Amino acid sequence: MSNALIDTAPDFSQPIAVLKHCHDRIRKQLQTLQNLLAHLPKHGADADAQKAAQAVLKYFNHAAHLHHEDEEQNLLPMLQATARGADATLLEELTPAILQGHQQMDRDWSIIKSQLELIANGSSAALSSEDVARYCDAYAAHMAVEEGNIAPMAKRLFSEEQMAQLGSAMQVRRGIPPALPYSQVPEQQTQAVNPTVADGVVLADLRLDYGRASLTEHDVLDDPIAQFGKWFEEALQAKVNEPNAMSVATVDADGKPSSRIVLIKQYDQRGFTWYTNYDSLKGQQLRGNPHAALLFFWSELERQVRIEGSVVRTAAEESDKYFYSRPVKSQIAAIASQQSAPIANREQMEANYDAAAAVSGAHPVRPAHWGGYRLEPVRIEFWQGRRSRFHDRIVYQKQADGSWVKERLQP
Ligand SMILES: Cc1cc2nc3c(=O)[nH]c(=O)nc-3n(C[C@H](O)[C@H](O)[C@H](O)COP(=O)(O)O)c2cc1C
Repeated sequence: MSNALIDTAPDFSQPIAVLKHCHDRIRKQLQTLQNLLAHLPKHGADADAQKAAQAVLKYFNHAAHLHHEDEEQNLLPMLQATARGADATLLEELTPAILQGHQQMDRDWSIIKSQLELIANGSSAALSSEDVARYCDAYAAHMAVEEGNIAPMAKRLFSEEQMAQLGSAMQVRRGIPPALPYSQVPEQQTQAVNPTVADGVVLADLRLDYGRASLTEHDVLDDPIAQFGKWFEEALQAKVNEPNAMSVATVDADGKPSSRIVLIKQYDQRGFTWYTNYDSLKGQQLRGNPHAALLFFWSELERQVRIEGSVVRTAAEESDKYFYSRPVKSQIAAIASQQSAPIANREQMEANYDAAAAVSGAHPVRPAHWGGYRLEPVRIEFWQGRRSRFHDRIVYQKQADGSWVKERLQP
């Protein structure tokens, strides 16, 4: 029998084709394994059998592992970082089985390997047909899932840049100089992949070094409020956790800073609006110094937005409009709470709530100490995480004539 395997691998500029080529080579080696199974009872561990066993050993001991690593460390994490909607759901379903499949095949391989090593040196002709069948069937099913779902998804979703990253990572894994500069090649993961990814932790970890998107001077909008709107919509669509939560940093009379999370309720050309208690700590600090800094962090999109400017109170009508749009119980809570002032215990707070509810009835009136603040921005910076901590930052500065000038900052 012959193990000649002379075929030409596709170029790493087409990494998905390379992965398919790997599958074809796996299929050939599995065929050799099955041929060997048929050969051994008739011919024993003769020279052809030894040669076949050596070839199968060589392939599955080395090349197959590189292929699994390509998938576990690059292809799947990149897809996880890119897929949305139905693609993301399908990926969530398939990924644990793919990772478990790799581990199961590794275990099956170690059983077959010990039999092949004896055949390869001519000392045994025993090869278990059950072990071979289990290994071949597992690989066939595994490759069908990857070729039917994973590869087409990658071809559809990956940009040219992502394809180049994937191809370069695969080259580096094989000791080949990458097509991209090393700074742009996704870092190799050093930790083994845990197949139990139900909580998403493992793949979330793996994706950390992948640039989800880029941000250039040319693809940001000229108007930073419109650019913020674009990113905010994308955060909503991506269902990031609390997309409207932002940190508000203020300073006290001595210039000492403090920050807290509030929810943005409106943004427009005038600025960014939230609602709170004017007598709270932040309220007192803003009275003394109206300068503040807002911060959004949308971790799932690897994005941060920093906004700085001065803060004004919203008009009473605007505060009324929002106050009366809230559930009555929230209105009563706003009346009952002297936000940021100490209180003895929870019971006292409940008593204050009951008293406010008794006075307010079904129609509470907005108290003068509760309303909106609007930060009028003079500086807005958009930060997009990129590979190897070589991030993109574009900052907009407001000019005296009201126009915005943008420039890139170093990461
Ligand atoms: C997710 C989240 C959303 C919040 N939203 C608001 C809000 O919209 N307005 C508000 O006054 N406090 C909000 N808070 C509470 C503030 O973080 C803070 O405790 C409160 O405003 C008092 O801050 P201060 O003592 O610095 O004034 C929120 C807290 C969290 C964690």
